[in-house]
Amino acid sequence: MFKFDPETAHNIAEFFISKGATLPFVQDLLVRNFVYSDSILSQQLWGVHFPNPVGIGAGFDKNATMIEGLSALGFGYLELGTVTPRAQIGNPKPRLFRFPKKSTIQNAMGFNNDGSKVVSRRVDDQYPYAIPIGINIGKNKTTPEESAIEDYKMLAQTFKDLCDYITINISSPNTPGLRDLQNEAFISSLIGELKKITPKPILLKIAPDMSLDDALGLCDIAVSSGFDGIIATNTTVDYSLLDEAKNFGGLSGEVLREKSFTLFCGIAKEFHKKTKLISVGGICCGDEAYERILNGASLVQIYTQFIFKGPSLIREVNETIARRLREDGFGNISEAIGSKL
Ligand SMILES: Cc1cc2nc3c(=O)[nH]c(=O)nc-3n(C[C@H](O)[C@H](O)[C@H](O)COP(=O)(O)O)c2cc1C
Repeated sequence: MFKFDPETAHNIAEFFISKGATLPFVQDLLVRNFVYSDSILSQQLWGVHFPNPVGIGAGFDKNATMIEGLSALGFGYLELGTVTPRAQIGNPKPRLFRFPKKSTIQNAMGFNNDGSKVVSRRVDDQYPYAIPIGINIGKNKTTPEESAIEDYKMLAQTFKDLCDYITINISSPNTPGLRDLQNEAFISSLIGELKKITPKPILLKIAPDMSLDDALGLCDIAVSSGFDGIIATNTTVDYSLLDEAKNFGGLSGEVLREKSFTLFCGIAKEFHKKTKLISVGGICCGDEAYERILNGASLVQIYTQFIFKGPSLIREVNETIARRLREDGFGNISEAIGSKL
């Protein structure tokens, strides 16, 4: 797969994961090889049952074409999207770059997706599903900031009965002006409007490129105005982390790991028990995921290392978390979350 250009490789993977996994014998084979079931990993969050804490990060299945395949590869929940109200093609290519020696990806995709109408129809065919489904939503590039709230309202309306949680994405670096929405006025009026539309949990996904003080301020407003959880973090625009970095798009994977985890820990110290926290950014193995859980993550997500290491990673992560929980004397994952804080 690494011989192909990164976006072609992604499209080939999507083809096999979406088509292959619908064949019963293939699905059977995948489940037997990759799904690790263990009650020590299962928990209820927002009244929803999560069989294991490892989710696919948003952006991998933007169009909801791989629901069956990804669940057969062992994920405990799926975050689909980012979906925008109307279909859009995203930024000009090339916009996806791999740095295998650094286990890092740089992307400037720009929310290329089939749009809410098509994606919601696909999700509707499957939902409710065997594992929880989150829908990550974002505004269209052409929607001005003043009317961004209308995009999020429309998306919440469309997906409110088709998911277990909704993630508000105002942290992608690839839609001009999007990160400017990470401000008090927008966040509090947005959640007020969305809560009128749906009782489903609504999570805020934040960028790693802010000071801890700013992140704490943002989370404080989000939690006090009604958000049900924080996902930290999206990709970084700190290009100093990688010598070969382009000067556009966001970096993910190994070079993001420390930055993302440090910000996550700072947030968790303040917000563990006040809200639910999801850690994402540079998770490469079970030990790393377990560390996030001990530091306050109820769930984790993986994207980049899934590309580099393949589906065996998800099984390894789940097996390792289960083993470490037992070694540390925990009866269930819920007892371990935040125990190191
Ligand atoms: C190619 C690519 C596309 C992404 N698209 C999205 C997206 O549409 N929405 C979003 O919230 N995050 C998106 N992300 C960010 C990931 O969900 C995740 O937050 C980030 O990559 C850090 O995790 P990782 O180091 O495990 O990859 C994308 C990441 C990559 C690499």
